[in-house]
Order: sequence, then structure tokens, then C-alpha cells
Amino acid sequence: MENTRVQLIRKLKNSGMQNKLVFVFLLASFLGYSQKKDNSKMPKIKPKEVFVAELMSKMTIEEKIYQTVQFTSDGTITGPKSGDNYISRIQQGKVGSVLNATGAKATREIQRINLENSRLKIPLLFGQDVIHGFKTIFPINLGMASSWDPKAVELAARIAATEASAAGVHWTFAPMVDISRDPRWGRVSEGSGEDSFLGIQMAVANVKGFQGDDLSKNNTILACTKHFAAYGAAEAGRDYNTVDMSERVLRETYLPAFKATVDAGVKTFMTSFNEISGVPSTANKFLIRDVLKGEWNFNGLVVTDYTGINEMVAHGFAADDKQAGELAMNAGVDIDMVGGIFMNNLKKSFEEGKVSLEQIDAACKRILDVKYDLGLFEDPYRYCDEKREQATTNKPEFLEASLEVAKKSLVLLKNNNHILPLNTNQKIAFVGPLVSDEFNIIGSWAALGDRNGFATSVKEGVANYLKNTANVTFDQGVEIKSNNRDGIQKALDNAKNADIIVAVMGEGENMSGEAGSQTNIDLPGLQKEFLSELKKLGKPIVLVVLNGRPLTLSWENENMDAILEAWWPGTRGGDAIAQTLFGANNPNGKLSMSFPRNVGQLPIYYNHKNTGRPYLGKSDPEQKYKSRYTDADNSPLYPFGFGLSYTTFEYSNLKLSSDKIKFDEKLKVSIELKNTGNYDGQEVVQLYIRDLVGSVTRPIRELKGFEKIEIKKGETKTVSFEISSEDLKFYNLDMKHTAEVGDFDVFVGGSSDADHQASFQLIK
Ligand code: BGC
Repeated sequence: MENTRVQLIRKLKNSGMQNKLVFVFLLASFLGYSQKKDNSKMPKIKPKEVFVAELMSKMTIEEKIYQTVQFTSDGTITGPKSGDNYISRIQQGKVGSVLNATGAKATREIQRINLENSRLKIPLLFGQDVIHGFKTIFPINLGMASSWDPKAVELAARIAATEASAAGVHWTFAPMVDISRDPRWGRVSEGSGEDSFLGIQMAVANVKGFQGDDLSKNNTILACTKHFAAYGAAEAGRDYNTVDMSERVLRETYLPAFKATVDAGVKTFMTSFNEISGVPSTANKFLIRDVLKGEWNFNGLVVTDYTGINEMVAHGFAADDKQAGELAMNAGVDIDMVGGIFMNNLKKSFEEGKVSLEQIDAACKRILDVKYDLGLFEDPYRYCDEKREQATTNKPEFLEASLEVAKKSLVLLKNNNHILPLNTNQKIAFVGPLVSDEFNIIGSWAALGDRNGFATSVKEGVANYLKNTANVTFDQGVEIKSNNRDGIQKALDNAKNADIIVAVMGEGENMSGEAGSQTNIDLPGLQKEFLSELKKLGKPIVLVVLNGRPLTLSWENENMDAILEAWWPGTRGGDAIAQTLFGANNPNGKLSMSFPRNVGQLPIYYNHKNTGRPYLGKSDPEQKYKSRYTDADNSPLYPFGFGLSYTTFEYSNLKLSSDKIKFDEKLKVSIELKNTGNYDGQEVVQLYIRDLVGSVTRPIRELKGFEKIEIKKGETKTVSFEISSEDLKFYNLDMKHTAEVGDFDVFVGGSSDADHQASFQLIK
């Protein structure tokens, strides 16, 4: 079956079939969750409620507490504290789950040690950050969100789960669903950007992809929604920093994607490092007990972030570790990640009456429940099959999928005079510190993805595409971030002889991601200086940017002829970029986050409020005493939802089915879209609304629908959306989630600046 699949993909490619066909085929193969559950070899065990209750009745208080203990292996280290001789702790039966241990062989061995020492033979849970792929790496999440294609995201998560599960991993700490409006924060790369509506679609797609339709199949893994909550709103974009926000903003903007994953059946949640309005999330009873486990009825487990409990002492929220542990457990935390606090203190806290047996039991039950759901009590080694691991890792069709998803994630930001796509007959000088890079291209937090020698660089992608590279040169020129000018002259000499220059520039993968906050988000090092030297040659320049966050590209926007935002595009990123530059792929991504003009504008996001003194732009008769900057425009350089294509689209004929709807009625919104350019293309049609007057003020626009459609050159299609009062709800003055009667504007178009406008009323 496997071989037939690969052969078919090859055939499709050789026969020049459209990429879309390959993608649809991959989707059908993997999203069908074709893995059959082989129950025949499994010992029959009792139903979960009975099994777990019986098991717990035999457990001592210590054994229950030890289920809440998680340590990291000596493998990947993702936080300040490491090692802690986790094996000896497992031998003492003191560990319930292990972080960062992978490999079928290694996890089998650790599981064996655990089972030999566990009186009641309770299997360990193995967790690992599988963020945008496991071995086969997909674009960073911010890039995948720019595909505006939830099916593509689901496929990436499905493949990641297939590879990770074959390497002994039961649990990924993903998706990260934090809304982020400030690209100084390095972790914007791990999320889906600034918008809740888009964020919800991406979050749900990830959960479906990781968990599949049945967790007990050995190719599905637990997803973990993180970081609960509002971590993306850290002040000034500085990692781990304070958050202070109203409950209304929290519920309306930051929580919906979390809630959506609960509705989609996610089994685990992770708390965030930050405090919210004075209370660290790790002991935030309101968030964990009242909202998550109460209102949303979440029945899975809650793990802290890495040493999150210990950090409450530094926060000034707990006097010591013991008290921090009590606060966390009482707030509803079930697992202590790496901190050792539950292990060392919880028994004493229980004896002192600071933590009840009921709470320890509840935590233990939630943990045992997911172990049961994964089928670990039936077979603790079901994820530890070396043969399956070998056969599953980096399968050709996975790599093919990584290419297809990458092609969907690239965003064309500028293309003067249709300078792109490149003509293969031109002499092209490829330059820049990332032109031959096979390391950074897969991005930060790329799990076990192979870099050098495996990932495709842009240079390799170009060579793969062109076959004959006689007309192209490749020169690094400068490094990502250094003062070394040695390579500049040679690069300029080659560029002089070219018809066109392609500069492949950007960040190092370690500049974004966790602990990667920056106050300067320009192209780093000498890259801009190098670009201005290239500019003096008078040749057209295409800038390809590889990065983990929106950068400030105002100068580049003025001086470059074309700009392609490639994010960190993953294992096949170089091929995706080359195929796009030469026109075998027509760019179809749209920004999942606004690009600022300069850092002084941050935070910046499209769905802001109007203020009492809105600035109407340069034509505003009143230029002073307006909500504006005197030295820069209010608008971003590139808005949320923006992205060009090699073809052009014309929107027309926006129609509403009525100019009034009642609360139980639906409004149909339709628009015509014509491909007026010279290429077949894809467009993401976006629908925004504005509630003009509310009992509390409403944003100037809110995304309420989108559809990515294929449209052939010359063709016209009609795209329709439905709106009901459900879509118009917000937290009103009394904090009720409701819609209010009144006037609404509708905007439809290809970005958050969409200018086709109509109006309707919501009436009683
Ligand atoms: C990160 C989490 C991650 C955890 C485990 C922490 O530092 O904030 O996102 O899941 O480490 O690696």
C-alpha cells in the first residue's frame, strides 16, 4: 500500500498533474486516519470508569501523588532545570510522566524500568514538544496559519503524530493557541498570529490532526492546548512578562481558541508562565477550576509549564515551594512539569490539611484516564515498535506533504512590475546569508527534524528546479548576524553580471521562539547594508525573507522590487521557495499577523478600537489632536490577511440577502470574484463585520469568515457566507455573551483592508 502511494505521487508529478491533486491525495490518505486498531492481540480490560476506580482503590496516597510528577529526560532541554536523575526517580516509582524522551528503543527501556518498579504496573506517559512536525518538519505555525487552510494544518499535525507516535511519544505539547499582537515576542512563531477567528480554525485543525478520531490507535497522540492563558500578551513582548487585562478582553480575544479545542475534544491543557492581573496562571483558580474545568467542562488533565509552580515564589505569589504546590493543586493543576514540588511537598501539605484527598484523587484520576484512553494499560509498549519507527520516519509522502504545506504558507508581499515569477532564461544572482542554509530553514523548535544534510536549502531547491544551473550564482555575502564583510565583494561581483538578484535573508532560527524576545526586529547584522550595496548595482532585487516573526521591512518595501515572506518553511522549504520564485507555485498565503512599520507601533493588530479621536489619514482635515503618531502612519506596513498572487483578482457585486435580520435568522452575504490576471490562482476571500454601536465599544473590524478558493484565469466565481446573531455576540456591559440590536457593516475582500462594504441591521 505504502509503495503504491509513493508511486502514485511520483506518477502524478511526472505527468505534470497539478500540485492540488497531490495535496488532495495526501489529505485523503492521512486524514482518513486509515490506521486500523488491532484489538485482537490486546488483553481485554474493564471499562475506564471501573478500571481506574479499581486501580485507585489500591493506590497509596504517595502513589497517587507520584502520578502528578513529571521529569525531563537528559535529551532535549527546554527549560532552566534539567536532568534531575530522572531514572533513579523512576526506579523509586516516583514519576508519572517523562518529558523529552523519544525513540522506540529508548522509551521501551524507560517504560521497562518503570514497570519493573511500579507496584501496580502503571505505565509512564512520554511527552515531547512536537510543534510543527516531528522528523518531517512543516513550516513554523505562524507560517502554516498564513496558509489559511485548516486542512493543510490538520494534515501536518496528522503526519507529525504518525511519526512521533512511532518513536514512542504519547503526548505533544501543542497546539500553542496564544493570540499574539506583538512580534517582539519570540514565541509568535509558535502560534497562529493575532486573530481569534483564524486561531480557532488552526487550533481545532491541530487537535484533530494529533488526536485523530480514536486515541487508542497507535498513530494518534494526546494534544495539549497551551499556554493557558494570555501568554501572548506579555507586556512589551518580553517573554515571561506580566499580563494585565480585563476579563472582557480575555474572554473575547484570548480564550476562544482555548475553548474551541475543549469542544474539539483536546485531552490536555498547559498553564502559562505569566501572571494575569496579579495571579500567576499556574495557580489561577478562576482560569483552571472555574472556567476550564467548570464552565467548559474540560475532563482532561492540566499540566503546568516547565517549573511553573516553582516560579510562583519569584512571582511573589507563594512564600516557598510547598505553598506554591498547594496553590497550584488547589487551583486545579494535575501535573507538575519538572518542578519536583508535588513530589517533595504534596504529602506533607495533605497531612497538614492544606490539600485535600479529594483534590489529589481528582488529579490522579484525570492522569490515569488519559493513560487508559491511549491504551497504555492494555499495552504499555504499543508506541515502542522500532520497526514501525523506521518505516514511518520521513516517508516520501510525508516529505511531499511538507512541500505542499510550505507552498501554501508563503506570502507575496510585493511584486512590482510583475517581476516575479522569474524567467529561467535570466541570469540570476542568488545571494544572502540564508541562500545555502539547511539549518535555520526548518525553524526553531523543530523537534527531531534533521537539518544539515537533509533539509532542502534554497540553493538546492533552485538546482532541483532548474536542473541546469549555468545561469545562476550563489553567494552568501554576509552572515546572519556578524560584522564580517569578507564575502560582500565577491557577491557584488557576481551580482553585477546578473539580470536580477534574489536575496535570501532573515533571522537565525534561535532568534525567535521561547526566550527569543527582541526590541529590534529589523533584518539583523549587516544584511540591510548588504542590500543597499546590491541596490547600487541598479538591478531588480527580489527579497526572500526567512524568519520566525513579522519583521520591520519599511526600507525593504521601498527599495526592493519584490518581497516573498517564506517564514521558516520546513524540511522541503528550499523546494517550496524555488518552485514559487519560478512560478510553478502561485503564492496564495495571507498574513496571519500584521507587519509593523517600526517597533514604536507595537502592539499592532487590525481589530483595534476606533477611539474618540480616530485619525482618518493624510486627508483628515484635523491633523493634530487625533489618535495618531506624528512621525509614522497608524497603519501597518502590511495588514493582517494581506498577500499578493501572480494573478490579480477583482471583487464585485457584494450582496446581502436582506438589510435586516432577526436573532434567529441568517443573512447570506455573497460576492463575485474574477481572476483578471494571467495565471490560475487561489484567493482567500475574507469577511469582516463591524458592530457600529454597542453597550461596550466594538473593534473597527472582526474576521467572521473566510474561504480559500481556486480560480482559473479569466474565471469568475461567487463566494457566499452566512452570518447569524451567533457571529455577532460579544461580552456586553453585564459580561453576558450576547448580540445587541443595531447597525452592522460588512466588509469582504482579500485582506483586513477589504473595501467592499454593505450594511444590515440586527432587529428583535
Ligand atoms: C515551554 C512549553 C513547553 C515546555 C516543555 C517550556 O519552556 O514554555 O511551551 O511545552 O517547555 O518543553
